[in-house]
Amino acid sequence: MKILHVVGARPNFMKVAPVFRALADFERIQQTLVHTGQHYDYNMSEVFFQELGLPAPDCNLEVGSGSHAQQTSQIMARFESIVLTQKPDMVVVYGDVNSTVAAALVCAKLMVPVVHVEAGLRSFDRSMPEEINRILTDQLSDLLFTPSEDGNRNLSAEGINPDKVHLVGNVMIDTLIRMLPTAMKQLPADLPPEYALLTLHRPSNVDDPDWLQSCVEMLRQLSHDIPVLFPVHPRTRQRIAELDKSADVNHDFRLLDPVPYIQFLGLQSRAKVVITDSGGIQEETTYLGVPCLTVRENTERPITTTLGTNVLVGRDLRRIREEVVSILTGNARRGSIPPLWDGKAGERVAAVIAGASVPSPIESPSQVC
Ligand code: UD1
Repeated sequence: MKILHVVGARPNFMKVAPVFRALADFERIQQTLVHTGQHYDYNMSEVFFQELGLPAPDCNLEVGSGSHAQQTSQIMARFESIVLTQKPDMVVVYGDVNSTVAAALVCAKLMVPVVHVEAGLRSFDRSMPEEINRILTDQLSDLLFTPSEDGNRNLSAEGINPDKVHLVGNVMIDTLIRMLPTAMKQLPADLPPEYALLTLHRPSNVDDPDWLQSCVEMLRQLSHDIPVLFPVHPRTRQRIAELDKSADVNHDFRLLDPVPYIQFLGLQSRAKVVITDSGGIQEETTYLGVPCLTVRENTERPITTTLGTNVLVGRDLRRIREEVVSILTGNARRGSIPPLWDGKAGERVAAVIAGASVPSPIESPSQVC
């Protein structure tokens, strides 16, 4: 059986790794890894392959940055010829980035079965590009793997046949569990004893200069109480460069380049609090038991707020400050680890894929990857 995995952006890489490893145990399965090139900087892509022990991609579509339509359509056009050449029995897509929906749409039109890992998550906020990607990818998929029960409920409400849906747990947590011991050994020597860790990259937070300016001001203020470490996504870096600079020098607000996976995991595990708008970080902090404040009005990962350590603080700057003070005075929210977030999700995915029957391969002209 030929399985083709498609990844493109940073959060895909830690999701494919456990599935790829688990499928490697099945002799009759042949795997191909396609990188769309949505993320292309060394520290947004290649370093993750090295750290996670992933093989170099068999093929890189090198689409790079662009508008949503440009990026999605370029992935589709380039990926279609790969599918026609490789004739996979199944294509596995991950998460909710533009690469995910682009690959799923190509396969659906070519009648190649699509497998979606991390299916069913919904923020119910269609202003998020990722929500559109999630809904469409799930509709196009033939096998859907959910990380939590809410995913199954959402898919059922959208009319997706429950026979196609498998609750397997969280593949991202598989990678966390595998890499955490290494991360703890490689903690930077100059870490402050206590610190807040910050990430911001969603268009809703960084594309509005007034909001970003007030947010950064508040965080600079906060850094009088606790050092703030801020690995900056390239999208955010561009926006911050356009802001007024603070004259305040009595603070400890550290802007860093994006950090590799292992280092970021170490930083999260030791943080007093994580402030973020990322999806995956809400899950990782829940697993680690680290308080997380999510600077969004909603989340597609509600289990992190009901069972985990995550608190949605919306766009309320005073609330963020109050929550941090509350955490610093020992009143952090205590959470528990959601069911099946146990390091074995990738194995569950692989077992279902290996047992699935596949239609005969498509016929097409031969092209080279
Ligand atoms: C994408 C995903 C988002 C995910 C995030 C993780 C979509 C719709 N969004 O958002 O869900 O949480 O990845 O990082 O797919 N850039 C670089 N170097 C890179 C990649 C990007 O400089 O290697 C810059 C470019 O200026 C680019 C901008 O970052 O225009 C945004 O990149 P893009 O991939 O379009 O979206 P992300 O914001 O990274």
